[in-house]
Amino acid sequence: MTSSAAQLPRPVRTLGATGPQVSALGLGCMGMSALYGAADRTESVATIHAALDAGVTLLDTGDFYGMGHNELLIAEALRTAPPAAREQAVVSVKFGALRTVEGGFTGYDGRPSAVKNFAAYSLQRLGTDHIDVYRIARVDPDVPIEETVGAIAELVEAGHVRHIGLSEAGADTIRRAAATAPVADLQIEYSLLSRGIEETILPTVRELGIGVTAYGVLSRGLISGHFTRDRELTAGDFRGMSPRFQGANLHRNLDLADRLRTVAEQKGISTAQAAIAWVLSRGTDIVPLIGARTRVRLQEALGALDVALTADDLAAIERAVPAGSAAGERYPAAQMAHLDSEH
Ligand SMILES: NC(=O)c1ccc[n+]([C@@H]2O[C@H](COP(=O)([O-])OP(=O)(O)OC[C@H]3O[C@@H](n4cnc5c(N)ncnc54)[C@H](OP(=O)(O)O)[C@@H]3O)[C@@H](O)[C@H]2O)c1
Repeated sequence: MTSSAAQLPRPVRTLGATGPQVSALGLGCMGMSALYGAADRTESVATIHAALDAGVTLLDTGDFYGMGHNELLIAEALRTAPPAAREQAVVSVKFGALRTVEGGFTGYDGRPSAVKNFAAYSLQRLGTDHIDVYRIARVDPDVPIEETVGAIAELVEAGHVRHIGLSEAGADTIRRAAATAPVADLQIEYSLLSRGIEETILPTVRELGIGVTAYGVLSRGLISGHFTRDRELTAGDFRGMSPRFQGANLHRNLDLADRLRTVAEQKGISTAQAAIAWVLSRGTDIVPLIGARTRVRLQEALGALDVALTADDLAAIERAVPAGSAAGERYPAAQMAHLDSEH
């Protein structure tokens, strides 16, 4: 890791009216531990180091990504990073998912006692005395959001957490949460293929001064320009169950990716950079989380920060991938049921 690049000025964005200042792109670390097939630990740590070195300060994880594996990985990367980079890092942690030994997801637990239990384990795994942004991964339908967010607010009060976030929450829940305690950001899927937040959720968070950390910006690789029609997915790969990656849906969605590639090539950028730059262009209150697992993918993603899309570029991108053109829901039916944002 060199220290020179870390000095380069990089664009920053602030998460909502009360949240931290972070890099304009965040690194989503999930795929380094789970859900996208095998990952290489050495390369994962090198990718986190390269991200910090390039001025990326926001690292996103969940305690259930590989049942603690992802937090331990981030802890190792931060421990072995230069102190200045470590101090600037903003770690966002999701909690609440209940897992089986076999890796199944059985629900969510947002009870205050559970919130504090999850936090205690995360702090231990991360090896820090505080979590920068803490959020339940899915709203627990059996626990009022006021109680879940209220428990995080108590952790803030005690100094164990700095900021409160939400994930995949709908407008009503967002309002109730914000009335309970200051909320920094909503983490939610947002991409050319997933534009569902534009109608109600985005106006709501903007009204309330809440930022957005957008995930699935490359639609889990579908519109990255690197996903092939004949790609074999290993057991446990989320995409093996995702409706958008199945049969005719996959072909229709990759047709959209091909159309995006044509526009990107005319601009002299890659397909992934066009997809990321489009999300960046949606507003300075939105921070894309990029699921890069290798330094090569990371460098490509960071290149999107240097892309300025003109009004003509944006129009061409929207013609290539019109709103609502994705084939298939963004999650399998059982997981769609857990999305408060879709109710
Ligand atoms: N709150 C939530 O509910 C929620 C849900 C999902 C994710 N997240 C968070 O958001 C983060 C990002 O989500 P995601 O990983 O699904 O989104 P993504 O960035 O749309 O997809 C990542 C996938 O795209 C592929 N890819 C191809 N080119 C890439 C490039 N240049 N840069 C980065 N990736 C490239 C990667 O491929 P390879 O196969 O080559 O690695 C990887 O499989 C996660 O890591 C996690 O922290 C949150």
